[in-house]
Amino acid sequence: MSSWLVVGAAGMLGQDLVAAIADSPHTHEVTAVDRDEVDITDPEACLTEVVGYDYVVNVAAWTAVDKAESHEPAAFAINAVGAANLARACSASRARMVQVSTDYVFGGDSDLPYAEDAPPAPRSAYGRTKLAGEWAVQSLCPQSWIVRTAWLYGAHGPNFVKTMARLAAERETVSVVDDQCGQPTWTVDLAGAIVRLVEAEAQFGTYHGTSSGETTWFGFAQAIFAELGLDSARVMPTTTDAFPRPAARPAYSVLGHEAWRGAALDPLPSWRKSLTRALPVVAPR
Ligand SMILES: NC(=O)c1ccc[n+]([C@@H]2O[C@H](COP(=O)([O-])OP(=O)(O)OC[C@H]3O[C@@H](n4cnc5c(N)ncnc54)[C@H](OP(=O)(O)O)[C@@H]3O)[C@@H](O)[C@H]2O)c1
Repeated sequence: MSSWLVVGAAGMLGQDLVAAIADSPHTHEVTAVDRDEVDITDPEACLTEVVGYDYVVNVAAWTAVDKAESHEPAAFAINAVGAANLARACSASRARMVQVSTDYVFGGDSDLPYAEDAPPAPRSAYGRTKLAGEWAVQSLCPQSWIVRTAWLYGAHGPNFVKTMARLAAERETVSVVDDQCGQPTWTVDLAGAIVRLVEAEAQFGTYHGTSSGETTWFGFAQAIFAELGLDSARVMPTTTDAFPRPAARPAYSVLGHEAWRGAALDPLPSWRKSLTRALPVVAPR
């Protein structure tokens, strides 16, 4: 039996991750903590908390992408220093660590999926702080897996799927950007993949925890409408320029999945198939 600690467990991914660990056919003990129990910006609290665990998964993060532009030091304190505090503690107590990261470490100006070792070039404060977190974990806790994800949606937090379901009930048409490409990813798929990665004792390193395939936000919204039994022609395409936001969004945020294959593991399923399974759970009618 192995023992797991999930830090940031009350968040959208954290809740599904705790369930996936508990439901695994392999028997695990899982402890779920969030900011009230362990604030990762407190190095002493990290050192104390991780003792005795085999695996520590860090899903705690500053995730307010736009707000990070004007609060980068506060985001850095959690995404970089907090990750470093946990990594140092894991190393000291010989726990293996999973650090969840983001597609925003890349520049988004490619037209091919980003490989795990592609050079990072974050364009936002959030991306810079998460990249610093990756580097801290790799250097302080070499027995670690970095799992980059993107475009997450799930039952336990605000997200695009819930927003579209709400707007579909409120408005006749919705305008959605059609010039940002990515991989919508269900938290349940990612949680299961993280558990399998650790159970397989896959080689330490970087993995891309995003769905297979790719679409734009517009394509994703059309699919949500279709799954809700609504007319997808009610979704109108627009451009990023029409919706200025404080943080730059990567135009092409598609991640490659070679590392899973290298570890003899299946990458995550197709975003479109997962949406069909997820919708009744994420946006029940
Ligand atoms: N959501 C996405 O689309 C997306 C995309 C790419 C990568 N990711 C990454 O995926 C991971 C999970 O994201 P998520 O969407 O599940 O995030 P989330 O719902 O915002 O959950 C993050 C959790 O971390 C907690 N937390 C924040 N600061 C903390 C601290 N100092 N100490 C301990 N806990 C703290 C938060 O508590 P409070 O509520 O009190 O702040 C929250 O419960 C993160 O690493 C994120 O960067 C997410």
